[in-house]
Amino acid sequence: MVHKTPKIVRTVADLRAQVGAWRAAGERVALIPTMGALHQGHLSLIELGQTRAQRTVASVFVNPKQFAPHEDFDSYPRGEARDAELLASVGCDLMFAPGVDEMYAPGFSTTINLTGVSEPLEGAARPQFFGGVATVVTKLLIQSQADVAVFGEKDYQQLQVIRRVVRDLDLPVEIVGAPTARAEDGLALSSRNAYLTPEERAAAVALPNAIKAAAQAVAAGGRIDDAEEAAKTAILAAGFRQVDYVDIREAGDLSRLGPGPIGAAKGRILVAAWLGKTRLIDNMAVG
Ligand code: PAF
Repeated sequence: MVHKTPKIVRTVADLRAQVGAWRAAGERVALIPTMGALHQGHLSLIELGQTRAQRTVASVFVNPKQFAPHEDFDSYPRGEARDAELLASVGCDLMFAPGVDEMYAPGFSTTINLTGVSEPLEGAARPQFFGGVATVVTKLLIQSQADVAVFGEKDYQQLQVIRRVVRDLDLPVEIVGAPTARAEDGLALSSRNAYLTPEERAAAVALPNAIKAAAQAVAAGGRIDDAEEAAKTAILAAGFRQVDYVDIREAGDLSRLGPGPIGAAKGRILVAAWLGKTRLIDNMAVG
């Protein structure tokens, strides 16, 4: 294990000074935005960043603007000391951990709003989510002046939204998507898995299993609507109390596909479902 304690900075000025010094020395810088509660999935993003740049910066900021009032902002798991330890274990160079006032000064009034790719799925279920994500990520990209930024495919729609913002606003950064890190049984790693009881954790594997079966059925020529319905039935049968969506969409812009066979299109199956009080999401390539 590498054990290099990351430097912790809390202001945009200090972040810029450090990144500016690295870039002036000819080093490329990778940003990995996170909300903390780090796990192996985040660490795999840092490691991917290290293959693309000499320096890695992890931001740790639980962004209030992407939570609706009834959502889990207050209870979202936080633990800066543990996060710093984990970043040290993979040799991350810098942790940017701003307070809410540093990110959103009094009177803050600007929101990045998108149409299109942000509208279905998570956008429909959580109307303020992508405005909050796009705003904070745009700020982080501008603040850090990173050459490359890494995001997990676990939040697949978020990744597509960020790609869209970066293209639309000509932000000078390369966006890299990283494959979803999974537990041995196939459950996607997520900070919210910490909310699951042992029984729920055992049942949760139905989510990746169901979408994998659907993806295989469609790749083998089956109808999209049948595969979506079968996945929903399997998820509910495993003890999930509600499926917000299970949808096979075009992989790039997330427009609708189906209801028949996928043909030559490149698809993505995306799911969000509630297990007790916990909302889990996942996705996989189709075809
Ligand atoms: O994926 C996340 O953890 C968050 O949505 C992000 C990208 C760090 C923005 O707050």
